[in-house]
Formats: sequence, C-alpha cells, structure tokens
Amino acid sequence: MRYNQIPKSLFIKNRSNFTAKMKANSLAILTSNDVKHNNADDVMGFTQNNDLFYLCGIDQEESILVLYPDAYRKENREILFIKETNEQIKIWDGDKLTQEQATDISGVSRVEWVHDFEKILQLMAFEADGMYLGHNEHIKRVTFNQQTQQDRMIAWCKEKYPLHDYYRAAKITRDLRLVKSKEEIDFMQQAADISVVSFKRVLKACKPNMKEFELEAELTYNLVKSGATRHAFKPIVASGKNACALHYNTNDGICKTGDMILLDFGVCYANYNSDTTRCFPVSGTFSKRQKEVYSSVLYCLKEGSKLLKPGVLPSEYETQMAKLVETELIKLGLLDAQAVANQNPDKPLYKKYFMHGTAHHIGLDVHDVGLYSRVLEPGMVLTCEPGIYIPEEGIGCRLENDYLITKDGNFNLTEAMPIEIEEIEALMKTS
Ligand code: GLY
Ligand code: MN
Ligand code: MN
Repeated sequence: MRYNQIPKSLFIKNRSNFTAKMKANSLAILTSNDVKHNNADDVMGFTQNNDLFYLCGIDQEESILVLYPDAYRKENREILFIKETNEQIKIWDGDKLTQEQATDISGVSRVEWVHDFEKILQLMAFEADGMYLGHNEHIKRVTFNQQTQQDRMIAWCKEKYPLHDYYRAAKITRDLRLVKSKEEIDFMQQAADISVVSFKRVLKACKPNMKEFELEAELTYNLVKSGATRHAFKPIVASGKNACALHYNTNDGICKTGDMILLDFGVCYANYNSDTTRCFPVSGTFSKRQKEVYSSVLYCLKEGSKLLKPGVLPSEYETQMAKLVETELIKLGLLDAQAVANQNPDKPLYKKYFMHGTAHHIGLDVHDVGLYSRVLEPGMVLTCEPGIYIPEEGIGCRLENDYLITKDGNFNLTEAMPIEIEEIEALMKTS
C-alpha cells in the first residue's frame, strides 16, 4: 500500500462501537464496492466502500464483513471474507491479500474465502433475528441505472431470508464516522499537507496562456509523488468566468492574463480526504476588482469559520454565513441595501451571487456521511467554503479550508495553505 498501515486498533475500536449500537441478536453484512467497467476490458479505478473500510480497513474488491456479536459460537462473531487468488490473477494482477494479511490489517481473526460466503452465512443466519445491510444514503446519490453490490446484497438476503428483520447499517455508521478519532485526523492532516505542497507547485507553474489542465497536471504530479491514492474528486481548475460554474472540471480553458483562477481540489491519502479551494491571478498580480472580491470572500471565511465550534447547529452556521456574504455583496455594489431589506426571505437576493452551502463534513467521503440536524462536536471535521460568483465580470471566487472541531473551537487542518493576497503574489513572483 502507498501509505503507512493504519493501526488495526482503529478498526477493532470502530467495530466495537458499531456492534454496541446493533439490536440484540442481529448480524451485519457489509460489502465492498464493485469494480466498474468503462468499455471493453477497461475498468475504472477501484474505490472501496467506505463503511466496509471504516470497519475493517480492507481496500480490496470482492470483500464482505459479517459481524454477529451475539453469535452462539465465538468464531462466528466476526468473519471477513476475501477473494481467493489463483495463478491467473497472480499472472495478470499480481498479489491479492492472503488471509494472514487480511487479519493483520483488520484485526479480524477469522478470514474466509468469499466463495464460501453463502454457505457460511447459512450456518448462522437462522440463529439471528435480524440483519443490518449497507446502503448508500447520501441525498444526492445517483440511482438511475446503477445497481451496486449493496443493492444486490439487499435483494439476495431478502429473497433468501424473507422473514428476518432488516435494518440500515448506514444509520449506525453515519453517527460513528462523523466524529473522527486521532488516527483518522492524522491521515486527514497528511492529506492536507500534501495539498499545501501541491498548491504551491501550481502557483509557481502558472503562466499566462497555459491550459488549465497543465495546472491540473502539477497537482497530480505532486499528489502521486507524495503517496496519495488519488484526487479526492476531479479537480476544478477554472479560469475567468469558468469559475462561475460550480462543478466545472473540463479544465480545458486557456488561462488568460487578467483572469483569476479558481482551484478546488482534494487529496485522498490512506482513503481520507482533504478539500480546499484557492484563487489566484494568472498574471501573478490581482486586479483592483479581483482584490475587492477576494478580500470579501476571505473576510467571510475568517469570520464564518469562527462559528464552527461545539454546540452549533450546521443550519445556524449556514444562516450566519449567508448574512456575512450578503453584507459583503452590498459593499461590493452587487446588491442594493434597500432591496435586501425588503427582500422575500424565501428568495434572498444573495443567492444570485452565492448559491451553494458553505460547510460539509469530510472524512472517508469528501461529502461525508452524517446528519446536519446534529450539533457540532469535537472530532468532527468540516469544510468552510464561502464564495462570490459574478459571471458578468468574469470573476468567480471561493475559498475553502478544512476545520477540525475542538473542545474550544476549531483547528484549521489547511492553515499552511497560502491564502493572504500578499502571500500569493509573493509566491508567484518566486517562480
Ligand atoms: N469541490 C467540492 C466541494 O468543495 O464541496
Ligand atoms: Mn472543494
Ligand atoms: Mn467542499
């Protein structure tokens, strides 16, 4: 693996926290994600199911974890199923995990081959009253024409064991994964540190008339060289008015002198993510108007991030952040104070220039699991990402950091990433 092995004590602790929340005499089945095809024999890079990873640290396809804490036989309380290798797999793909390695990573002492899953489950299924199954509960998940391994497991279990009770494993993991442990925070800090070096590399490389994807390449170079697994998401390198398309990522525009670039990227290290946004001028010097807009967004980031502290409800924080941005939009001459005073509260005027939320949990997922009805607690990690988008001026500006909620407030994991105007201009001059 590219990263130092995660201590198995983390997964043992995660399983113990998970099973403590299960109903009496129930078992849980967590599956890995599919390896998906593009065309012909070309496959997309494998990304593990994060709930499975959280509970056992196994980053290999075709893995299944079964937890049955009340099982009569001790050896049935935790079983990890992995794919058995063979000569063909060895020749084409190289090594797969051995059972001993899987135990070493996960701390699960009983490891079986996945082709024995149905047979072994049958031996314990009727002893249990109910089953917890995994499912993607993200509100924005795409379901059209996509059947996942989890969907198939649900259908298979319900057909084979129709009279059992069924429960949602995600309801437990979303509560647990929200609060990060020390080991997880360390990996998130490493992801953030890689992103800082990547950003500085981009600043130095940036020259007028480059293609946006040339800057993307600088990011990719550093993150692969640093042992990161992948980009946390397809990076956004958006110059000029491209920055006003929130999820722009074709990155094929030309970076023109006079334009500002919005760079929103994340690093996935040991399966934990960072998510940061910075803006900088192609020429190395911000124009007067770019400076004004940038300073407004930076002010909102600095003031708004102070609200990320224990006891705050995410919705209260979003309301306060919207107020901050609204005030800045008036100062920038983009909104009229009188019109704002008379606005319909259901259709606030600021949404014309600031149309997205400003915080999301981050961890194993960039937009991590967890309910926004839960107040902030120490150990949660959230982004703060205010922005102002003015297509008519060809300016889109967002600034984004990752904050660990602490007992007294928060700690910025991405503090080392340059953000002050003078700092950015000075760095761009040293290339
Ligand atoms: N780039 C996705 C986000 O910032 O949430
Ligand atoms: Mn982002
Ligand atoms: Mn974000």
